[in-house]
Amino acid sequence: MQIIGIWDAYPVRPYATIRKAISAPNYVHGYYCLFSILCKYPIVSFCVSQLAGVGTAFLLYLVIGTQGYSPDQLTIIFAGIAGVSSTLVGARIFKLSWWWFAINLSFPMAIAAAMSLAIDPWVYFICFLILLAVFWNAGSTRVPLYLTNHDTWRILTDLLPSNTPVRFIDLGSGLGGTLHALASCRPDCQFAGVETAPVPYAISRLRQSIWGLPNTQINYGSIWKADLAKFDIVYCFLSTAPMGALFDKARTEMRAGTLFISNSFAVPDQEPDQIITVDDARSTRLLIWNM
Ligand SMILES: C[S@@+](CC[C@H](N)C(=O)[O-])C[C@H]1O[C@@H](n2cnc3c(N)ncnc32)[C@H](O)[C@@H]1O
Repeated sequence: MQIIGIWDAYPVRPYATIRKAISAPNYVHGYYCLFSILCKYPIVSFCVSQLAGVGTAFLLYLVIGTQGYSPDQLTIIFAGIAGVSSTLVGARIFKLSWWWFAINLSFPMAIAAAMSLAIDPWVYFICFLILLAVFWNAGSTRVPLYLTNHDTWRILTDLLPSNTPVRFIDLGSGLGGTLHALASCRPDCQFAGVETAPVPYAISRLRQSIWGLPNTQINYGSIWKADLAKFDIVYCFLSTAPMGALFDKARTEMRAGTLFISNSFAVPDQEPDQIITVDDARSTRLLIWNM
């Protein structure tokens, strides 16, 4: 089944597609358009796969019944059925990447195991809220929170020209560690960050107010709204998902002679001018383009 191929015919322009859906000649066409947007986000495809898996398990329960099995056995059987069927739906219909197979397969089992622990549901709800605040936009941007390490901070500091003050921006500045490390080494330079996840942003602002670095400014805002023309060095540590579009933005806005640095993630079809391999546990690669 290749439904996603048909949905791909719709462009990934959410507002235009929603308008199209609203003005669609009939409900089927309208839902079809909306689905085409939603299925661009793997997290949505995952949720739909899980619902399909639970639905399959429920149908089997109606057909086969529960005689002869203990409640624990039934939980394991139905969690297993839900896991396998959601994995198949995710793989065959939504064409999810391989790592979603493991998540789809184990998720119903993990829920069954968590339920058996008899923990107060409020604990799960509070954990969910905390995770939501930390990984706020990871579902839509596909960029979770992980941090640039100390060895990479040192290399980034070395990349700042020694006698010239520069303006540096960290796109998706997370907890603000990179900015603070660089700003404390180079008080003559200006450092900026943009971040949209509430908890990382709040922590970075707290750090800023405690350390009081006057040459650092962190704003709550999207990387897509940052004016890159203002900066001599643009640094990002994101994921493969936004790199193509971000590089196009950098090419359009950044001035000649400035640097675009991506920690670990390549830009499709764009060879970097320089690659620095950091001497750390994961051999971090800094990909550098002269704009
Ligand atoms: C991998 S972390 C990197 C954190 C920090 N730059 C560092 O190197 O330690 C990526 C960060 O980008 C943020 N992010 C992702 N998409 C974003 C967007 N569109 N606008 C602003 N921040 C974004 C995430 O919330 C996350 O905190």
